[in-house]
Amino acid sequence: MEQYVIKGGNPLVGEVEISGAKNAALAILAAAIMTDETVLIENLPDVNDINVMLEAIAGIGATVQRVDRHKVKINGGTITDFNIEYDYIKKIRASYYLLGALLGKYGRAEVALPGGCNIGSRPIDQHLKGFRALGAEVDIEHGKIVAESDHLRGTHLYFDVVSVGATINVMMAAAMADGLTIMENVAKEPHVVDVANFLNSIGANIRGAGTDVIKIRGVDSLHKSEYSIIPDQIEAGTFMFAAAVTKGDVTVLNVIPKHLDATISKLNDIGCEIEEFDDAVRVVAKGRLRSTQVKTLPYPGYPTDMQPQIGVALALAKGTSTITESIFENRFKYLDELARMGAVIKVEGNSATIEGVEKFSGARISAPDLRAGAALCIAGLATDGVTIIDDIEYIQRGYEKFEEKLRSLGGVIERTASEKEIQKFILKVG
Ligand code: EPZ
Repeated sequence: MEQYVIKGGNPLVGEVEISGAKNAALAILAAAIMTDETVLIENLPDVNDINVMLEAIAGIGATVQRVDRHKVKINGGTITDFNIEYDYIKKIRASYYLLGALLGKYGRAEVALPGGCNIGSRPIDQHLKGFRALGAEVDIEHGKIVAESDHLRGTHLYFDVVSVGATINVMMAAAMADGLTIMENVAKEPHVVDVANFLNSIGANIRGAGTDVIKIRGVDSLHKSEYSIIPDQIEAGTFMFAAAVTKGDVTVLNVIPKHLDATISKLNDIGCEIEEFDDAVRVVAKGRLRSTQVKTLPYPGYPTDMQPQIGVALALAKGTSTITESIFENRFKYLDELARMGAVIKVEGNSATIEGVEKFSGARISAPDLRAGAALCIAGLATDGVTIIDDIEYIQRGYEKFEEKLRSLGGVIERTASEKEIQKFILKVG
């Protein structure tokens, strides 16, 4: 088991390069198997979830050739198996995107049913509703989803819930269905648009991604392409909040500022100065942050994946703030860890009331999930003492070179693998 040990107190200052979007990449890797020709994918983030997805794809017989840390070639022409084992689903839920991809291409897929996870129960009824509407027979057998169809047909579908996963999964299955599919009440997140753009680059005919209605005219076959994944707006937002809570001055490079609108707006509300460039955003924080109210919503609302980061900032802001989490039911666990660092928080249902304190004090805490783990690191960087964070494998699932990037901005953070290494760090930093 590894930990992050952090000696906070330094303002983070400098520029940091943002990697490709993990959540776009996971879906695009699945979609890449839909053609028998070779697809080159660039700007792939080098994080654990991506490696697991590549293993799942290789596991069904696709050819996966890692060109370098950020580029991969995939050829789906060698697939022999339509069955994704529970082992993969257990590690990354997003391997369920192979359900839509395999069903769309071959008319058959078997994928272990994902359970809940640390952030909530996470049903997939909308994915299954979409596959059924396309004419697939979908059964749950022995813990597996089995989807089959001799002939997928275009359909008119209205999602009951705005879901990123269901929008992407059903869009993939519909890409090769017979005729026109109209999907209403779809998710509009940048990664939904990126997956549609990728599918179009391999020959699909998808219009409207980024709006509430997506129209997909099915095609018979898909072809090769070279595609570069969009920057990760959540990674970017995480570093922007790191600047805010450490009273720093950080410029995130290689971003699409439009994707960061909701985050920028909240950083403004709490008193940060923001400068936007074509593909960079600078955040400058001086003095104490101000309180605000925030509610997570589907894009273009404030993202649930940025909720813990703003939570840390508000726990240090002057005054009383509230956070309402409206997407997942279990995304406040990090607040208990923050309370161990001195934050004053009351949680009732899906809302948290936070009385900002002037300072946190260092403590030993645990990362409850990916985004919450990253947010707790930021809390550690804003704390004068030493903070030790356990369970950091969550963070490594989705943030490339997290500690290296923080160190390049002046953060004092190390990854340790034993109590001895922790003590050595503490002696070194005094
Ligand atoms: C994606 O999850 C992301 N994961 C999540 O990021 C992110 O938090 C979430 O979207 C919301 O933006 C990936 O892209 C791999 P949803 P997803 O389907 O697709 C309900 C991270 O840290 N729902 O948009 O699973 C669901 O319970 C991760 O990178 C149904 O009721 O999210 C939730 O309340 C964590 N039925 C809401 O919809 C369904 O069939 C939104 O979930 C599907 C979803």
